[in-house]
Amino acid sequence: MLRVKNLSKSFNGFVILKNINFEVERGEVIGIFGPNGSGKSTLLKCIAGLEKPDCGKIILMDRNITDLKPWEVVDAGVVYAFQIPRPFKSMSFLENVATPLMRFHDRDKALKLAWDILSKFELEDLANRKAEKLSQGETKLLEILRAYATNPNIMLLDEPFASLDMENALRLKSKLKIMKEEGQSMIITTHRRKIISDLAVRFYKLEGGSIHAEG
Ligand SMILES: Nc1ncnc2c1ncn2[C@@H]1O[C@H](COP(=O)(O)OP(=O)(O)O)[C@@H](O)[C@H]1O
Ligand SMILES: [Mg+2]
Repeated sequence: MLRVKNLSKSFNGFVILKNINFEVERGEVIGIFGPNGSGKSTLLKCIAGLEKPDCGKIILMDRNITDLKPWEVVDAGVVYAFQIPRPFKSMSFLENVATPLMRFHDRDKALKLAWDILSKFELEDLANRKAEKLSQGETKLLEILRAYATNPNIMLLDEPFASLDMENALRLKSKLKIMKEEGQSMIITTHRRKIISDLAVRFYKLEGGSIHAEG
């Protein structure tokens, strides 16, 4: 469904990604792991249109999305959840999840759909909490639910478990498992492979700018 072909990216003459090739099929959860600075965020940002690759192509369902603007990539159904979440702080959890839906629905309908999502993930008790009052783990859930709300073709999750304690990491993982069981495609980056060993179906290691499939 998503194909990355011969993608390379340098910053100031330093090669960060060289000739990256991989594919994600519909419904697959792919794990990409590598140490800090190995280029995980850069790779996801290139896919999301937030960085421009020096060369190579990103193909989504036979469509070349390489040179699209970030919002056009979102419209194509590729959503990037930031490592550091950026909620609307003065809005509630529910309103934050509803916001991306307001492009397609009136406010009441968007709030209703957002409520349905919170129910599905058993997060109703957070609905009316202002984003600025959420814990780090709750803010992370919010960022990911906001990405999920638009029913994307693929979600790009950049180190979703980084900086979460075990309890919050397990809670987030249980939500991601529900999404996976629904057939939601995802790419998840991590510097700790173990945490996604039972979530991803395939793994790639990013090292020295190159990507390798791992068992
Ligand atoms: N916009 C940028 N300008 C210059 N260098 C960058 C930029 N973004 C990332 N880098 C560098 O690219 C390398 C890979 O960064 P990153 O993709 O964030 O790695 P990771 O997410 O695996 O920690 C790092 O050395 C980082 O400093
Ligand atoms: Mg990163």
